[in-house]
Amino acid sequence: MHVHRYEKLWFGAALLLIVLFIATVVFGAVGAGIQMIDDEAGTVDPSNLSEHPRFSETGVVESDDADTDYEVRIVAYHPTYAPTTVTVPVDSTITFYLTSGDVIHGFDMVGTNVNAMVIPGQVTSFTVEFDETGEYDFICNEYCGPQHHIMEGAVEVVSQEEWNSDGGGDS
Ligand code: CUA
Repeated sequence: MHVHRYEKLWFGAALLLIVLFIATVVFGAVGAGIQMIDDEAGTVDPSNLSEHPRFSETGVVESDDADTDYEVRIVAYHPTYAPTTVTVPVDSTITFYLTSGDVIHGFDMVGTNVNAMVIPGQVTSFTVEFDETGEYDFICNEYCGPQHHIMEGAVEVVSQEEWNSDGGGDS
């Protein structure tokens, strides 16, 4: 069977494209450091968060867990987060615990790979380490009501010296 030279060329180019497409999918799945958030952090009663051992005290809390330095506990209520701003030290392991007191919200930290849903009744948990100081803004990226567009907050990452001098915290 004779295959025309141009046909062979296109055949090769098409195969190359398929390999490249598979490579981009594989890179997106394993190479880009993307981790899915599971339901391991458990469930809560959204109407009784003030009694909950974790969400009765929101903000930055020193962690009892050996694998993490600080916990950041945030409750989303339309159209805000409680607390709105948290301060954490650089180069520390920070585990976020998020939940909602009303409807589904988002928690998208601009310029980072943090992007989570905040669901009433469910605890969203993920661990991050900030290796650069600065202000990391987060926004709600799930439509949650008429004031959705103003729902935002920030994580301020300060140097270890600054953290030790003012004790960190939230506002
Ligand atoms: Cu909360 Cu949109």
